[in-house]
Amino acid sequence: MRIVVGMTGATGAPLAVRTLQALRDLGVETHLICSRWAETTLKLETQLSLPDLHRLAATVHRLDNLAASVASGSYRTDGMVIVPCSMKTMAAIRMGLSDNLIVRAADVTLKERRPLVLVVREAPLHELHLENMQALARAGAVIFPPVLGFYHRPRTLDDVIDHIVGRILDQFGLSMPVPRWGEPSSQRDAADESPLL
Ligand SMILES: Cc1cc2nc3c(=O)[nH]c(=O)nc-3n(C[C@H](O)[C@H](O)[C@H](O)COP(=O)(O)O)c2cc1C
Repeated sequence: MRIVVGMTGATGAPLAVRTLQALRDLGVETHLICSRWAETTLKLETQLSLPDLHRLAATVHRLDNLAASVASGSYRTDGMVIVPCSMKTMAAIRMGLSDNLIVRAADVTLKERRPLVLVVREAPLHELHLENMQALARAGAVIFPPVLGFYHRPRTLDDVIDHIVGRILDQFGLSMPVPRWGEPSSQRDAADESPLL
């Protein structure tokens, strides 16, 4: 499988890191494109350098390289995830403003009717954010805000991140070992509980 991974400057760099690690572990060929502000959030929110992040991907494309393979629909991929996806990039995709490779690759993914998963991150949301999400959902994108789940009783931030990333990968038919409702391991032992979790 081949998946394009866009990373933009919304908070949530650890989600991008974990997504790339999980795709690598599943043997997926990833094509990574980072925005300038993603480089800033990576530095602020993780201990990884940009070269560390790049090493997690099979191929890295420059944001301004509109001649990259993934800028063309004739280059076959199995879809694209933008994780995290800023409101700015979401708005640009909605309007077809394909002046950088993340937006162009997303536009191509939509026109080729391939899965496009937007891990949109902002709170609270105003009407224009919501309008953009609605238009993109109608055009075929999956709007996937990284919201917390508690039914699997997460104990660590890694548990929370893994659960979100596992559900993102589900959108591509990929399976990562995460607790799933209805499966025996989906809830922790009651004896192992803190008062809150
Ligand atoms: C630390 C930090 C956190 C940010 N978090 C968000 C966010 O959660 N959502 C968002 O839409 N923008 C956020 N922004 C603003 C975006 O980085 C900004 O709109 C930028 O232009 C997005 O460009 P890009 O989509 O090309 O990365 C954040 C910026 C910084 C510096």
